[in-house]
Amino acid sequence: MKAIILVGGEATRLRPLTPDTPKAMMPVLNAPFLGYVIRRLKSHGADEIILTQSHYARAIKDHFGDGKSLGAKLKYVIESVQMGTAGAVKNSEAWLGKTFLVLNGDVFTDLDDAALVAFHQAKKAAATIALTPVADPSAYGLIETEADGRVRRFLEKPRPEEITTNMINAGTYVLEPEVLKRIPSGTKFSFERELFPDLLARGEPVYAYPSDAYWIDMGTPENYLKLSGDLLLGKSRQCPSAKTKVISGEGRRIHPEAEIKGPVLVDRNCTIARKAKITGPAVIGAGTTIGEGALVDNAVIWQKVSIGQGATVKNSIVANSCRLDDGCRLESAVLGDSVIVKRQAAPAPGSRIPPGTTVS
Ligand code: GDD
Ligand code: MG
Repeated sequence: MKAIILVGGEATRLRPLTPDTPKAMMPVLNAPFLGYVIRRLKSHGADEIILTQSHYARAIKDHFGDGKSLGAKLKYVIESVQMGTAGAVKNSEAWLGKTFLVLNGDVFTDLDDAALVAFHQAKKAAATIALTPVADPSAYGLIETEADGRVRRFLEKPRPEEITTNMINAGTYVLEPEVLKRIPSGTKFSFERELFPDLLARGEPVYAYPSDAYWIDMGTPENYLKLSGDLLLGKSRQCPSAKTKVISGEGRRIHPEAEIKGPVLVDRNCTIARKAKITGPAVIGAGTTIGEGALVDNAVIWQKVSIGQGATVKNSIVANSCRLDDGCRLESAVLGDSVIVKRQAAPAPGSRIPPGTTVS
């Protein structure tokens, strides 16, 4: 079966992390996010994959190429202007003959795609949408269903008073090629705000497949941080070995008096100095240095970061090549690439600091 992955969004909610690193390429346990999505699809029988993208096309293609290293066949369809979620799929119509899968490119899930397709076929549906329960549907597409699973209503980003269920669009669809006829060519068009409501208004058989498999949309800093932690804590079937207390890469130098409380993943060529304390879940990217007596607690730190003596990094994300001077404090902060935090500085909790900024 063929699958399309949508990776052409602007990822505005992940700024300041995304100007140089596309969302699909953000490191998750030190490997690009999209690799997990492709491997999962492949393991469920979809190995011909179309990536529809408008931004940063190069970084994704440079890394994954034709997909051979993952055992998949990848094709890239580039939008010169953003076509919207459904418009992007319409753009790829020439490569889609039979029933196919569509995936939001920022969802990490253990959903069984093969079971989803079998359900779709048993229902003779035109479209089937995977559903997942969430605590607050307001950031998602709310879906109301009948007892037999037929979709009654699709409401994107519902207001609080419109919330009638905790079941939302999990961002994986099975579609029949006929559905593409309902998407206009050459125009920006949305599955969520246009195509699905339109199919429902026409009485087309649109079904929903609920699943309580592990699921997260990593498109916000909070969820991105949570995803790393969840994987280290073994919450997904895809990373069971990650339960190991400390997993370390080559060339690392961890001082015997450093205190590491797992689960912590340390990539290659890192230095962790005397009396530094790392409390998991935490991921430390390649070539990062953590100074004497520094504290890192529930964090994702990318590559070549330098954390000074006695500095604190808590519930935070630190992108590539940042420098945190001695004694500075980061709490619930997100730093873009190459940010410098001067000695003793403490940006307000919740700060989002753009790449290249100096905070003093
Ligand atoms: N190619 C292409 N072109 N891809 C796009 C475009 C576009 O114009 N716009 C968005 N995308 C991609 C994004 O890169 C992302 O992978 C996916 O489509 C969904 O876009 P988001 O911007 O992440 O949407 P969302 O998270 O607010 O909501 C969507 O996902 C929720 C589940 O995570 C909706 O589908 C909701 O209904 C759903 O509940
Ligand atoms: Mg999203």
